[in-house]
Formats: sequence, structure tokens, C-alpha cells
Amino acid sequence: MAIRIKTAKEISVLQECGKRLAAILKALQEKARPGTATGEIDLLAQNLIRDAGGIAVFRGYRVEDSPPYPASICTSINDEVVHGIPRPDTYLREGDILAIDIGMAWPRESAKEFPSYQGRPLVTDTAVSFSIGNSTRESDRLLRGTKEALWEGIDEVKSGKRVGDLSARIQKKLTEYGFGIVKGLAGHGVGYELHEDPLIPNYGKAGTGPLLKTGMVLAIEPMATLGKGDVRLDRDGWTFQTIDGSASAHFEHTVVLTPNGTLVLTMI
Ligand code: MF3
Ligand code: CO
Ligand code: CO
Repeated sequence: MAIRIKTAKEISVLQECGKRLAAILKALQEKARPGTATGEIDLLAQNLIRDAGGIAVFRGYRVEDSPPYPASICTSINDEVVHGIPRPDTYLREGDILAIDIGMAWPRESAKEFPSYQGRPLVTDTAVSFSIGNSTRESDRLLRGTKEALWEGIDEVKSGKRVGDLSARIQKKLTEYGFGIVKGLAGHGVGYELHEDPLIPNYGKAGTGPLLKTGMVLAIEPMATLGKGDVRLDRDGWTFQTIDGSASAHFEHTVVLTPNGTLVLTMI
């Protein structure tokens, strides 16, 4: 399908959605301590999304023959790369690497900030990884490098560039660090739906792929591991884990290309 261009009005709604989502993610991050259950973080997310006037778009989401996703966020610990399911009996431990991924559509009902907005709710998507309690040098390095790769990708979002330029920049940074690159999972367009075209792989060839244009909204999301990049799908139908058991990190922002440059929407 074609890449869907968002209007200026839609972009202002996405900005509000992204700001609110960033504030929610920050609150979730503060809640994540040794001894916290990931299910408690999910419950907090559910409440904060409701209070923000948004819709938890992950809940009930399906891909191909997957079961409907059962939570408002993904919580992926250590060797879990993405789509870990929060559970009331999964407790965070000192030294864990936790990735929290959250998406929201906004507004759920007509928003007083946008009295003239008659359109549908619009989606932003963001993720952060961090250590629970004390970290190790290796996990710090994994977190730093993966986050740098995200910002390398964001820096490539410019008129006239192509998706492959972005992918190549991310790959270069992850390779510099010697990380495993997860090839079966990618970033994506976002906005009217959680997943839209284009697909944004975390590896690729500069100068290839779709041209970036004003009004495109992209979720850029490098995932990296301390070992090989090979992953398998857990029996729960959602959680991707590294096959070699190595730790993994994931960072994601939703960005938009405007006539005045690139805005990172999922920041406070
Ligand atoms: N937010 C994930 C992404 O970055 C997708 C989560 S789908 C879910 O693309 F169903 F697991 F929530
Ligand atoms: Co996400
Ligand atoms: Co995403």
C-alpha cells in the first residue's frame, strides 16, 4: 500500500498525542523498580492512557495468525527483544534490562484542545530500554549504542532522503558497536493505524527504498543484541527472544517530516 501523507491539522493532533504518550512512558519508567511486576506497569499504563483521553491501540492488536495482544504495553526483559507480555507474576529484578513499548491513539472523543478536529484518532508509538537498579558496563554499552542508532536514524529523516539511507545509518552504528541486528523486525509508518507503510528495516543500503516526503510519519525503532541477531517467537505467540540468550535493547520514536524540518513527536 502507498505511504499515507498526513495533513498539517493531523500533524498538530499527532504532536499532542506524542507529548502525552511521552509523559505516560516517563511515569511508567519511574514505576519500574526491582520487585515491580510488569503487570502493575501495564495497569498504570491503561489508567494513564484513559486519563489522557487516548486509546490503548496495542490491546486486541493482531498480526497474521497471532492471538489478540492482551495488554496496553509491551514489557521485554533481557533476552526478550520485543512484544513481551506484561504479567502480574513477572517481577523485575536488579540488573534486568527492561524495554517498555507503548502506543496510543488520540483523542478518544472530540478534544477540547482541537474543537475543529473532526478526524479519527491518530496513533504514535514509542519505546525505551533501561536497567532496573544497578547496571553492568555491558548493559550500559548496549543501551547507549542502541539509543545512538535511533538518533542516527532520526537524523537521516530529511526531504530527498530514502528509507534505505535511514536503515543504513542505523546499521552502521549498530555494527560499529558490534551488536547483533534483528533482521525480522522493523520500524514502520504510523498515524492512521499502528502499522502503515513503509517498512523501516534496521539494516539496508543507502540510496534505495521509498523517498521521504513532507507529511510522512515514521516509527523508527532499532533493536540490538549483545550476541547474534537471530530471534524466535515464544509459545505465547508474541514474545520475540534471542536464540543465543543474549541481552537485547529497543528504542523507538515517532517522527514526522514537516516543511520546517523533522519533529520528534514522542518527546515531552
Ligand atoms: N509497538 C510495537 C511496534 O513498535 C508493536 C506492538 S504490537 C502489540 O511496532 F500487539 F504487541 F502491541
Ligand atoms: Co512500538
Ligand atoms: Co513501532
